[in-house]
Amino acid sequence: MSHRIELSTVEKTFGAGASAVHAFGPVSMTVEAGEFVSLLGPSGCGKSTLMLMTAGLLEPSKGSITIADIPVTGPQTDIGIMFQDNTLVPWRSVRGNIELQLEMRGIVPATETEKIDALLRAVQMEDFADRFPYELSGGMQQRAAFCQAMIHSPQTMLLDEPLGKLDAMTRESIRSDLQRLWMQERPTVMFVTHSIEEAVQLSSRVAVITPRPGQIERVLEINLPYPRDFDVKNTPEFSAYVRETQEIFRGYGVI
Ligand SMILES: Nc1ncnc2c1ncn2[C@@H]1O[C@H](COP(=O)(O)OP(=O)(O)OP(=O)(O)O)[C@@H](O)[C@H]1O
Ligand SMILES: [Mg+2]
Repeated sequence: MSHRIELSTVEKTFGAGASAVHAFGPVSMTVEAGEFVSLLGPSGCGKSTLMLMTAGLLEPSKGSITIADIPVTGPQTDIGIMFQDNTLVPWRSVRGNIELQLEMRGIVPATETEKIDALLRAVQMEDFADRFPYELSGGMQQRAAFCQAMIHSPQTMLLDEPLGKLDAMTRESIRSDLQRLWMQERPTVMFVTHSIEEAVQLSSRVAVITPRPGQIERVLEINLPYPRDFDVKNTPEFSAYVRETQEIFRGYGVI
């Protein structure tokens, strides 16, 4: 069962006194169980800071966060996380890195071989299962990290620009894998992206964040039926959502 995430007047300030940086907030928002919500905002507005706070890796300066009505007070272990910089360990192969996620949760990797292989195939990495991170391109490392984040079918997923380093074509294909996975298993997803099109294609709602300190400018409901494949981008409805979002960014002076 997926979980609801609730942010209540969450704020983060780094440092103190004259050198203090008010990075984020205050923001209040609820991501309902099973929803796919994108956070779209200019660089430096505090998106990664919010993801770290939600994962329990950074403490808010003010306000609180709950997942499934339980306050986040420390690192969350049963959620799937993918951050901007991938988290592969250099001393394990691609397969070994994916297995590490299972081992940490007390699952015997040998019982999940089929699932690992299926994920690797989905991201065209089956021929690189035994390679080490240093033998992979940036995009391949990111695809491996994607498998790592998905292998334990997490019910809550925090994805911070997970497709950022990928070439356009791989990005398109992983985007549809992600959408299929979300439709099948319905985890709650918080997804950070710089791409307006990506946010509109994937999300049930898009939260547009202001420049730092990031606050929610507008939340757009994307009322397009799923699955949203490549062709949806050619529809006038899709273009209208993209334009509406672009207008907000134009207002900030960032595009
Ligand atoms: N550990 C830290 N110490 C001090 N300041 C920090 C720290 N982490 C982030 N900041 C500051 O907080 C602000 C928000 O940073 P954050 O990484 O959350 O932005 P972002 O929205 O994820 O940007 P991007 O889109 O470029 O990834 C920035 O001004 C950054 O310099
Ligand atoms: Mg960031």
